[in-house]
Amino acid sequence: MNDLMDKIVSLAKRRGFVFPGSEIYGGLSNSWDFGPAGTELKKNIKDLWWKMFVRGRDDILGLDSAIIMNPKVWEASGHVSGFSDPLVECKACHNRFRADQIDINSKCQECGQKNWSETKSFNLLVKTYLGSVEDSKSVAYLRGETAQAMFVDLKNILTSNPKKLPFGVAQTGKAFRNEITTGNFLFRLREFEQMEIEYFIPKPKTDKDWQTHFEHWRKEMWKWFDLAGIDSKKIHEHEIPDDERAHYSKRTIDFEFDYPFGQKELYGLAYRADYDLKQHQKFSGQDLSYVDPETGEKFIPHVIEPTWGVDRTFLAILLSAYYEDDKRVVLKLKPRLAPYIVAVFPLVRNKPEITKKAREVFLHLKSQSLSCVWDDRGNIGKRYYAQDEIGTPWCVTVDYDTLSDDTVTVRDRDTAKQERVAIGKLVENIEFRARQAR
Ligand code: GAP
Repeated sequence: MNDLMDKIVSLAKRRGFVFPGSEIYGGLSNSWDFGPAGTELKKNIKDLWWKMFVRGRDDILGLDSAIIMNPKVWEASGHVSGFSDPLVECKACHNRFRADQIDINSKCQECGQKNWSETKSFNLLVKTYLGSVEDSKSVAYLRGETAQAMFVDLKNILTSNPKKLPFGVAQTGKAFRNEITTGNFLFRLREFEQMEIEYFIPKPKTDKDWQTHFEHWRKEMWKWFDLAGIDSKKIHEHEIPDDERAHYSKRTIDFEFDYPFGQKELYGLAYRADYDLKQHQKFSGQDLSYVDPETGEKFIPHVIEPTWGVDRTFLAILLSAYYEDDKRVVLKLKPRLAPYIVAVFPLVRNKPEITKKAREVFLHLKSQSLSCVWDDRGNIGKRYYAQDEIGTPWCVTVDYDTLSDDTVTVRDRDTAKQERVAIGKLVENIEFRARQAR
């Protein structure tokens, strides 16, 4: 792995963002667990997304569907027949690769031999069996994308929530893909999370009708980069050519990010037309058309799909926030995303009155719904060092003076400047700083 990636992976483990999955059993290839700080960061990412795209708008409704759906869903969507990557195996060492990611005219990168198998098509859906009998009737799939439920549930959503087109459905949650090659930390996983929107629009009469919505979503995605603290100078739009687009898409733009291992996909924006709803109408035998309440026109809605991977967002945020100089390493996370907004320290550990006062301050901040962490390890310098690496924007220290004048020191992560603040004004002070830092 590249130097910066090594640093990120090691910081992520050291500070409780991401651990190798099942590590005490020797791990599991490319499986990662989010630790306490990582869980907070990931939750903040998903909450921010939900706030921006669902709660902050009046044209998007939320959904939380089952991960295992009727297998016919995946037949209708085209995933059973078409969701595959070209696989090639080295017959000498039996390592498997994506044929489109290596040069099969060269030797195997693992063993140095040149003895390739035929290229086969490998389906990415993760298969399982439901119930006690493992046969073809009990086959089911873990969802390969969160998108499909938003088509399958559209009829119920519209019946229970009278909405006029255009409007969207949003869902966040796990998706599973039996990727042939994984790697680069959180970049390509077999189990990952998505945040997706299916934005349903009337059947376009001209190209401009769908292009207007497409442009709207393209701008929204750029706004998101800024909101989440993803370095927009590292983002590149990549128009996917006709012959490379997914089977359902009439136009796709990938938003690519400059990862240390190359410029690769972060998010996607696709015009899926009426492909999915038509397929589900055909396979389910149900009428999935929409009737315009004003004109009475009946049609299958078309859809624009902006899609975000949570794990890649997490990685892009860490890479964008990472800063180091000769004295310290800092994760310059946006305060709204930082795992903890404040860390509270007693200056020394062996003075019960200071610890008691610091606990009071800590619990007071917590009671005001500020996400705080307690830190009394090592000396104050080590605690600042640790909190900088976690990305905690402000550290509050309770010291000897606090006992007589009820003031504390507030130290700023980015400038390392300290200020004396009265405990009575502490919440207000932190909230003001957080608003300023947006
Ligand atoms: N519903 C459309 C769809 O699933 P996709 O480009 O296959 O499109 C959407 O996936 C997003 O999900 C990607 O842009 C990426 O952020 C994330 N993603 C896809 N495969 C992934 C994997 N194996 N590991 C981590 N994230 C992945």
